[in-house]
Order: sequence, then C-alpha cells, then structure tokens
Amino acid sequence: MTNEIGVESLVDGCRVNRRLYVDRELFALEMDRIFGRSWVFLCHDSEVGEPGEFRTIQIGNQPAIVTRDEHGDIQVLMNHCMHRGATVCQQSRGQVKNFRCWYHGWTYNLRGELIGIPYADAYGRAFDRSVKNLFKAARVATYRGMVFASLAAECDELVSYLAGAKRYLDVFMDLSPVGEIIARSGGHKFTYEGNWKFQLENGVDGYHPNFVHRSFWEMQPEGAMDMFSGTSPGLTRALGNGHSILDMSPLVKPRAGNGSAKQDGAPVRSLPSDGLKPKPMGDYFDKLVSAWGYERAVEVLEQSNVNLLIFPNLLIIGVQLRTITPVDVTTTEVYQQPTTLKGVSDEMNIARLRAHEAFYGPAALGAPDDLEMFARCSRGMRVREREWITFDRGLERERVINGERVGHITDEVPQRAFYARWRELMASPAGDAARAPANSHTHASHQTR
Ligand SMILES: [Fe+2]
Repeated sequence: MTNEIGVESLVDGCRVNRRLYVDRELFALEMDRIFGRSWVFLCHDSEVGEPGEFRTIQIGNQPAIVTRDEHGDIQVLMNHCMHRGATVCQQSRGQVKNFRCWYHGWTYNLRGELIGIPYADAYGRAFDRSVKNLFKAARVATYRGMVFASLAAECDELVSYLAGAKRYLDVFMDLSPVGEIIARSGGHKFTYEGNWKFQLENGVDGYHPNFVHRSFWEMQPEGAMDMFSGTSPGLTRALGNGHSILDMSPLVKPRAGNGSAKQDGAPVRSLPSDGLKPKPMGDYFDKLVSAWGYERAVEVLEQSNVNLLIFPNLLIIGVQLRTITPVDVTTTEVYQQPTTLKGVSDEMNIARLRAHEAFYGPAALGAPDDLEMFARCSRGMRVREREWITFDRGLERERVINGERVGHITDEVPQRAFYARWRELMASPAGDAARAPANSHTHASHQTR
C-alpha cells in the first residue's frame, strides 16, 4: 500500500521518486488528495457565454459539466445520472435546454435539478426526488472570467489560493484595453502517453527549448536562442501554493515605432524573438495607455512575457489557456484554448491566433516535439534501478526575493515548487483540510476582482 511506505518519502528535497510517474495506486491517491481538494481550473466563462451553453470537462478524472443557467450563473454539475450513473452529457461543448440521460430518459435542468422521470408512477411513496438532483462541485469561483471549482468545501478562498499567480492573471487580462479575454476561437485537444505532471513540468521548463525546439529557433531572427541560454537574463519564479512562472520579461527590449509612431518614441516592448506572440500593432499601445495609463500599459506588455503555471492543472502560455487532464497514470489529455482580446482590432486578434498556431497547433513547429519527450520519459521511467529523478538544477543560486523563490530561466525552481506543493497535499490524509478551512458556509461562491 502506498500509505504504508509513506507518500511524503516519495518527494525528498529536490528528489522525486519514479513511482510518481508510473504507479497506479499513487495516481488514485493524487485524484483524491490533489484534484479532490485543490481549486481546479475548468474553463473561461466566455466559453459558456449564453444560458444552456456547456463544456464537459474533468475535475481530476471525474467527469463534470460547466454550464450557464437561465439566471446567468455558472453551474458545475457532476456528469453522472442519479439513476444508474451514466454520463448525462456526451459532447465536448454545445448548447442545450436541459440534460437528458440517454439510458432511461431522466432529465435535469441547467441547475442540475431532476425535472423528468419517464413513467414516474412506478416509484413508490418513499421515493425522494429532492435527493436525485445532479451532484455539484462543492465550491465554484471565478477570477476575472477564469472558472475554478473545488470538490472540497474546506479550501482557501480562490484569490488567496492564487497567491502570486494573481498578478500574472491580471496582466494576461489587462492585455485587453477593457480587461477581458474571449475564449471562443475553438481549441485543440491532444492525448499523450505519459503522466499528467510531465506537461506541467515542461510548461515552465526553460532548460529544454534550445534542444527540443532547436529547429524552431533556427528559423527565428539571430539571437533568439539567447532567450534560453545559460547566460540569458530570464528568470524562474515560484509564486506560492505550487504556482510558478518562466519569466522572460527581463529579456524585453524597448523598441521604438512599430505602428505606434503617434506616441512619438513610446516603447513597443517585445522579446528578441516574437515568434510566439504577435507584436503590438496599429493603435493597440495607445488603447492600452488610455485604459490603464502609460506605466501600467508598459508593465502589462513586459510582464505578459511569462509562462504561468497554476497548480495543479493550468498553464497560460503565449495566448492560450492550456488545461491538463489526467486520464490514467500514463495517459494525459491536454486542451489548448487560444484566446482573443476584447476591445482590440480584428487584425491584432487574428495575429494572436496565427502566432499560436505556428508553435502550438497540431502540425506546428513546437508543441508536438514536447509530446515525444513525455513519451520518452514515460518509457524511460520503467527502468527500476534508477529510483530517483532529481530537480536540483540551480539549487545553490536560488534566491528568495519578496518571499518568492527566484532562479535562472534554465533552473528547476518551478519544478521544486510544484513538488513541494504536491508533497504537502499528498502527505495530509483524507479528511484533513489541506489548508486552513475558509468560511465556506455557502454552497458556491463567486468572486471577481
Ligand atoms: Fe517545449
């Protein structure tokens, strides 16, 4: 039994036991202790913009539906008919008036209330309809349109849970001059052979791009590979609660002109290589300045040059929301949802989508290479003699600045932070709140900025 050997011993300082990637029993425990009690990212609220619009997602490996009811409220319903347990919604997205189980026709409204049982007179007096509504996630909260749920009633408020990641979510949203993104441009789903944690490790891994993605960098302007070299000024930062960033903002160089000539020398700030994100164009910078003021406009453009990991299942990279769904211990599903910005020109948004496709799309120049690495790691982890994987790169030069651990862009600061959080959650037995209980008398709570 996993418990007998002590789960906490599987993450020992910066060493991680290979069983974290291949052990089925440990995977089941992760579903309870991590996905069963953390805030888990589900989708952006624009994906379910209208009443009856839905997306089917998973909270860990449990199927659920995110929908919007007639009152405009977001509902997170477990996808499980209260009659025989079948999923009541099969499509990945769509719009419905209600959810009807195909097995025996039981029907639920958008709030999950049971509203129809065929030939109901066969159920006797003891039958209590009121306990046959769909289960709901214990807590649902949104932050700037990002919808999260928790299966545990006792957990921190979402905003405190987000810790240092909140600042970067704000930056991502403030790239829009009205502070809102839209996630309705379709998405791209893929499955890889390998544990779910490989994708999270990789999304904030600044050590791999010059090797795995070499062919892409070689097509970029001179100097692009400096971004992830041993002498890059880029950083890694742990943001608390297992969240982290790959911070490319120190690489940003002011550039004059570039369509914002009206600003007369106003810097349009961008990375040495803009291969992954569109450059500000047209009057975009002016719009940001009138919305947020000059200082904040510059800050937003600079600080958006990060890859953000929100524990346990979200990466924000380039223009995309990337959701990681564990299927089984060595099968993972990833959903990439590129976003557009409210309040900017079509030209700017089209450029965002094209930039996304170039590196991250199904036949793109970057992301598919990573999948091959996950599969190779997954196979390699079967070697039993080598029990430990070590995330000790940059350990001695790691610093604590304003309470956050900071390292070089090629260092393993994010991975160490991820596994420290993993250990903290996995080591506390079921029933214990992983964090100090929040005041959670309400069934669901909604928060915005
Ligand atoms: Fe990569």
